[in-house]
Amino acid sequence: MHEINFILNGAPRRVIVDPQKSLLKVIREDLKLTGTKEGCSAGHCGSCAVLVGSEVVLSCRVPVVKAQGKEITTIEGIGTLKNPHPLQLAFAKAGAIQCGFCTPGMIIRAKSILDKNLDPSRDEIKKALQPHICRCTGYQKIFEAIELAASYLRGKTKSIELKLTGRGTIGQPVTRSDALEKATGTTLYAADLPVDGCAYIKVLRSPHHHAKIIQIEKAEAEAIPGVLTVLTAEDVKGTNILKMAGDDQPILCGNKVRFIGDPVAAVVATSEEIASYAIEKIEVTYEPLEPVLTPEEALKEGAIKVHDDRSNLFFEQPIIHGDVKKGFSEADVVVEKTYRTQTVEHGYLENDAGVAYIHENGQLIIMSASQNIHAHRKTISEALGLSLDKVRVIQTPTGGAFGGKLDISVGGILGVAALKLKRPVKFVYTRSETFAATPKRHPFLMKVKVGAKKDGTLMALDFDLTADGGAYKSFSNSVTQRGLIHSQGPYRFPHAKVYGKAVYTNTAFKGAMRGFGVPQVAFAIESILDELALELKMNPLALRIKNGFVKGDTTICGQVLDHAIGFQECMETLKPLYEKALREAKANTTQEIKRGVGLGGVWFGPGRSAPDQSEAWAELLPDDTLQVWIGAADMGQGAETTFWQIASETMGFPLEKVKVFTTDTEITPDGNFSAGSRQTYVSGRAVQMAVEELKKAMDENGVKTYNEMKAKGLPTLYKVVNKPVTSRPDPKTGQGVPWETYSFGIQMAEVAVEIKTGKVDVLKITSVHDLGTVINIQNMEGQLHGGIYMGLGYALMEEFIYTKTDSFAKFRVPRAKDMPDMEVITLNIPRQKGPFGASGMAEYADVPTAPAIANAIFHACGARIRDLPITPDKVKKFL
Ligand code: FES
Ligand code: FES
Repeated sequence: MHEINFILNGAPRRVIVDPQKSLLKVIREDLKLTGTKEGCSAGHCGSCAVLVGSEVVLSCRVPVVKAQGKEITTIEGIGTLKNPHPLQLAFAKAGAIQCGFCTPGMIIRAKSILDKNLDPSRDEIKKALQPHICRCTGYQKIFEAIELAASYLRGKTKSIELKLTGRGTIGQPVTRSDALEKATGTTLYAADLPVDGCAYIKVLRSPHHHAKIIQIEKAEAEAIPGVLTVLTAEDVKGTNILKMAGDDQPILCGNKVRFIGDPVAAVVATSEEIASYAIEKIEVTYEPLEPVLTPEEALKEGAIKVHDDRSNLFFEQPIIHGDVKKGFSEADVVVEKTYRTQTVEHGYLENDAGVAYIHENGQLIIMSASQNIHAHRKTISEALGLSLDKVRVIQTPTGGAFGGKLDISVGGILGVAALKLKRPVKFVYTRSETFAATPKRHPFLMKVKVGAKKDGTLMALDFDLTADGGAYKSFSNSVTQRGLIHSQGPYRFPHAKVYGKAVYTNTAFKGAMRGFGVPQVAFAIESILDELALELKMNPLALRIKNGFVKGDTTICGQVLDHAIGFQECMETLKPLYEKALREAKANTTQEIKRGVGLGGVWFGPGRSAPDQSEAWAELLPDDTLQVWIGAADMGQGAETTFWQIASETMGFPLEKVKVFTTDTEITPDGNFSAGSRQTYVSGRAVQMAVEELKKAMDENGVKTYNEMKAKGLPTLYKVVNKPVTSRPDPKTGQGVPWETYSFGIQMAEVAVEIKTGKVDVLKITSVHDLGTVINIQNMEGQLHGGIYMGLGYALMEEFIYTKTDSFAKFRVPRAKDMPDMEVITLNIPRQKGPFGASGMAEYADVPTAPAIANAIFHACGARIRDLPITPDKVKKFL
């Protein structure tokens, strides 16, 4: 142990600690300043940045001894909620904060930039931000925030005022209500929660792809001082199955493990260090089994079963529309190709984490990040053998999710531990654990055939996809089904035969990720359309305009699109920009650098696969303010702010007289999953309907206040369930009405390909979308930028390789310098049933980005890559 002295945020501090302990751990654990975040513990993400003197250091990589005698500034020393620094205001004002997990580190870095130069160029900002990852914003608004703060500090911008009050805010850039807390580091994510008398959990995971568990010897681990218990499947008193979307995944494995990373036992100890040490002392005897590592192997006759009681083929869905044979026989040109997409990790910066304790009323309280607290509560109660009223789930601020926090990660084990020990427990995944043990985006194998008339009229589609579901189902059924339904793209096919299946393998399990299967199929259909256009000698945009959906068209599910459809308007809006881009690409192409332009279309149904519903409550409080209650997760996408604006506008109250509460199963109704771009369209409409009920009661009775309502005996709380009118696709034909409406868009990528290396630079993405009425222009732009960012990573670099990818060093994601210029244009074409005409948007820009880039690469240099990601090596092979 050493005595270390330093100045922290202007005050002298003394700690007596292991000198090799990281500065980050000392700041967070010993000095209890949790504004500095831990995203990777390895120097890869920038979340832990602090200033030492005037230099930024990544505090997870610095032993505290190096801080001896130094002056350290953390986010808490930059500004406070009452007295924020201009940078903190600028981040909130510019919409640079979504989940907020990267924000403290970003602001520290921005402070160091502006301390040296009050007028940095965009390139200088990008270069300085390279050590930082933001998975939400696409960096664009972070650049803008730093420029805004610089302008203010130079005296050019006179003030930075947040938009948090007023009426008539639909379409306005209302500031997120939690933005300043996130900017000042005061938001407490699950790992930050101070818990008295807390015990800590570490999990022993399977080293085998597939094996029987013969015996677990835990006596040595249990004898270690500080170890409170070692948990195995025997300690789980309920079904031990996390039955949410799937019905096959145990909290702790009993008889068998099915992938490397499956949880086998958990140590609960008085410290994380003791728990980690004790894990090594558990002896598990396995009987290894033959694994099946690919769908091809899993589907072979006689293949070993991943789950003994069921087939490896666990989901199938055909969609039959028209007469596909006839369609192809009438086509003049037929193109048939195979496309593959890779496995992808969500890469949210906040590792999975949570806390559990037993309340004095006997309830089990689980506090963790979540994309649906009500589903998590139901699932955990069944798995643990508790009645629903004995479990309460509270969503902690969620540092990104993108589909990955729909599944339960820490919640089940936390519950088992808290019930057994009757004391509070905390469980925080390491970054490598988040890589190993959380769901991934499915890799798809897609065999696609399209036929068209000479004039470009599409005649027939044959689309066959296989999704590798990994060891457990998770959301594979919905992902596969949504992919199939969207496999036609936003285009008319009079005849189609579409079929998809999902298959178990002994690999990391696959679940929901931004786009729910649609990014995969969009890559295939948008690529093959360009391949068809080439055969037809047609302009790719002209082919899309000729076949793009118009009102009254019928989808391959037999749904008549009788609502507003802005796809043609999107393409017409893009047309002059596309023609200009083509001219510029031609003019700027050289022998060394080839320029190209590519397109990708998108359509997407906002909502859960049928049936879908959300419940919301509106209440007039005694102080005559409006309170909205809805259990609907905001993971950074801005759902709460959207509900706030909708409620304020519907009631006619200014924002300051409206509050929204979303995070506790005990006091909210079920707003259902934050997934499928559904919270604005489905839950936002529920909020609007509930507030309408309250307002109607007040108007019809001529009352304006809570006291007047009470005096007349009127209820002050109004409850509404919004159920979109949809129907589940028929299991044999796929016919049905899966979503009430769809949003549409088209994106254009402009790229430069370096011929010598095959390296691709994406220069610009232009994104034109019909998303219905925009509720919050800043949130909308932020979601589109974030979607483009993820699509770009998907196209060019991101790939999770099972058993190998365990850090951000091995999972390359786009950083500031990778980002192109982004221009987003939205058409406000109202949807009949969305709140104020809004539709959904969170997933849209992710979907068409990869095919637009792939098509642009082909246009630039003739390299047609049919498997993602498009690495320089793959491009080079064509050059
Ligand atoms: S936590 Fe230090 S760089 Fe990621
Ligand atoms: S806001 Fe940057 S990681 Fe979420």
